[in-house]
Amino acid sequence: MKFIVQGGLEKSGLKGRIRVPGDKSISHRSIMFASLAEGTSHITGFLEGEDSLNTLRAFQAMGVQVSEPIDGKVSIKGVGMNGLQAPNKPLDLGNSGTSMRLLTGLLAGQAFDVELTGDESLSKRPMKRVTNPLSEMGAKVDSAEGGKPPLKIQGNQKLTGIHYTMPMASAQVKSCCLLAGLYAQGKTCVTEPAVTRDHTERMLTAFGCDVEVKDSTVCLNGPAKLIATDIDVPGDISSAAFFMVGASIADDADITLEHVGINPTRTGVINILKLMGADITTSNQQEVGGEPVTDIRIKSARLKGIAIPEGLVPVAIDEFPALFVAAACAEGQTVVTGAEELRVKESDRIQVMADGLQALGVNAMATDDGMIIQGGEIGSGTVHSHGDHRIAMAFAMAGLRSNGDIHIEDCDNVNTSFPDFAGLAASCGLSIQVVND
Ligand code: S3P
Repeated sequence: MKFIVQGGLEKSGLKGRIRVPGDKSISHRSIMFASLAEGTSHITGFLEGEDSLNTLRAFQAMGVQVSEPIDGKVSIKGVGMNGLQAPNKPLDLGNSGTSMRLLTGLLAGQAFDVELTGDESLSKRPMKRVTNPLSEMGAKVDSAEGGKPPLKIQGNQKLTGIHYTMPMASAQVKSCCLLAGLYAQGKTCVTEPAVTRDHTERMLTAFGCDVEVKDSTVCLNGPAKLIATDIDVPGDISSAAFFMVGASIADDADITLEHVGINPTRTGVINILKLMGADITTSNQQEVGGEPVTDIRIKSARLKGIAIPEGLVPVAIDEFPALFVAAACAEGQTVVTGAEELRVKESDRIQVMADGLQALGVNAMATDDGMIIQGGEIGSGTVHSHGDHRIAMAFAMAGLRSNGDIHIEDCDNVNTSFPDFAGLAASCGLSIQVVND
């Protein structure tokens, strides 16, 4: 599938009130924790994207009765901490790093062996970051060369709690250790070098698990048990980010994104865009299932280039493809540093974004840990998303400011996080065409 976005329009804008799909991180965790809980949990707002559906299918394959999602509603009859059954073939997790890293922790404490596989992109992603702490806990996980998937997890291992200090700021690694900790004897603690998303901590608490958070350390005691609860998944701020950037850079935009999760460990994109001069306001804030939610209104603004504070990088980590596009439209220079984690996402997001921006005539220079972008004109051209959903959606929004058409190749994986992105974007004014090749 490819996108063709029409640029060069006299007046481009994004208008209306929309609701972006459910939060991917929260959707994954809702399936995992509800499956292990005692009792039936009902989930609403579930993201019916390929990534979270891969998690859902994995638990179905391990014998959990998970209903097929209808309009974001899913019911899960939990099997209890020790009720999962051995799947009869490897669990294919597609493109989803969150599924693989969190499941590796959760499955390390089961009584059966299991193998986790993924697509070409996931098969290239680093897994030592989870297998190292897990082996300290007593888990046995074999990987392919270089610590890459597939991962073969041996069952029947006795796990013991550890205190792990993470070498990188990663919520996936933190969550992996905590999920193994649910099955370990004693206390498992994880210390993070910078703030990362805390959905695991919040949702485990909602499922009745005692999670202690003090400064940058989170601890829980194993073996633990979870009690069913209902989860309302808010809109994904990472999906909303494309519309925040799109509306900011377009000429004549005024859009409201309803019911978006604004957990403070995820709001870096709002803070960064505001530092760049964006016109963003929130209203109707409420707390839903332990997560803050709000409506976000964005209007066109004249953005200016900034040096992005490094402290905001981990809390905006998935939003950099969109932020690089914002920087390309800003007046002056934007400098991103401390973002080396972008190199090991679904694609090398530093290189792939720099290549794409250059193909559109933008002065963008990749550095080891970020990018230096001189804001200016965006031209027409062809860019490759390298199968990375967020790259494809970021360049689609660039069409709101480009002086000609942008062709974006390899867009199938937009379905991993944002089914019908093109339809929703078109409904509020983006001139986007989907071409199936
Ligand atoms: C996620 C954590 C982040 C993020 C990913 C989802 C999660 O990854 O990039 O899209 O749900 O825990 P890292 O923890 O590797 O930074």
